[in-house]
Amino acid sequence: MSEMSKLAITGKGGVGKTTLASVLARLHAADGHKVLAIDADPDANLGAALGISNEELKRITPIAQLEELIHERTGSKPGTVGGMFKLNPQVDDITDRFSISKDGIRLLVLGTVKKGGSGCICPESALLKSLLTHLLLRRDEMVILDMEAGIEHLGRGTAAAVDAFITVVEPGMRSLETAQAVRKLAEDIGIKQCFVVGNKIEHDTDRQFITDNLHDFTVLGFISQNPKIGEADRKGISPYDLDPKVVSEVKAIREQLAAFSR
Ligand SMILES: Nc1ncnc2c1ncn2[C@@H]1O[C@H](COP(=O)(O)OP(=O)(O)O)[C@@H](O)[C@H]1O
Ligand SMILES: [Mg+2]
Repeated sequence: MSEMSKLAITGKGGVGKTTLASVLARLHAADGHKVLAIDADPDANLGAALGISNEELKRITPIAQLEELIHERTGSKPGTVGGMFKLNPQVDDITDRFSISKDGIRLLVLGTVKKGGSGCICPESALLKSLLTHLLLRRDEMVILDMEAGIEHLGRGTAAAVDAFITVVEPGMRSLETAQAVRKLAEDIGIKQCFVVGNKIEHDTDRQFITDNLHDFTVLGFISQNPKIGEADRKGISPYDLDPKVVSEVKAIREQLAAFSR
């Protein structure tokens, strides 16, 4: 795959990360790519945005909550801090066992690691980091990470395997500040490419506001404020299936992104 195939989507809560991640995942799957969608947001709802029903979602446990597996693989019980455990636990079978598939996309939910002080090194975060690194280094697969604004799941080693960070912003100062902060963090851990997508656009002035305030960022494109997206959310349908407009807007964003990898 010559296209950038390992993407991490970040941004302030509620800006549209999950919406973008789900539509991007569906677009790639429609092209016949193998797609792995990873929900790394503690406020996990990527599955719903992919149109996976609540009943199906209930059948999978977030990886961070798989206490026995974490114990078995790291040699230490979750919640333990500072003990001895394996830093490179076996992870290659986890996706097959703990993911669900729909519409050609495999979904993996990471769950929340309770923070044990700065630079928490606990068995569950060791397992998640190993798992992410393993998944990001697989070559033949498109990986879309739906993240929170913080990028704790990504250590230096893991981050190096991400092709690009996409920060979603809305026309408001706070989300733009998050974009600045994310880029700073991303640079610190060695991410090469940081892009921006503007969401919830109502007027040309919204686009202008974003490009003016983030003039030294590359803005890949925009998604309109669109009642169909909220409707999809309320109905538990993927926005991809409900509205051609958001699909064409995300297609354009994807083409812009591809232009950077040529
Ligand atoms: N362009 C848009 N137009 C209207 N509603 C949107 C738009 N983008 C996102 N939303 C709605 O905003 C809420 C948050 O979106 P979501 O993608 O879950 O954000 P995040 O993952 O960043 O928290 C959802 O209810 C979603 O339906
Ligand atoms: Mg989300």
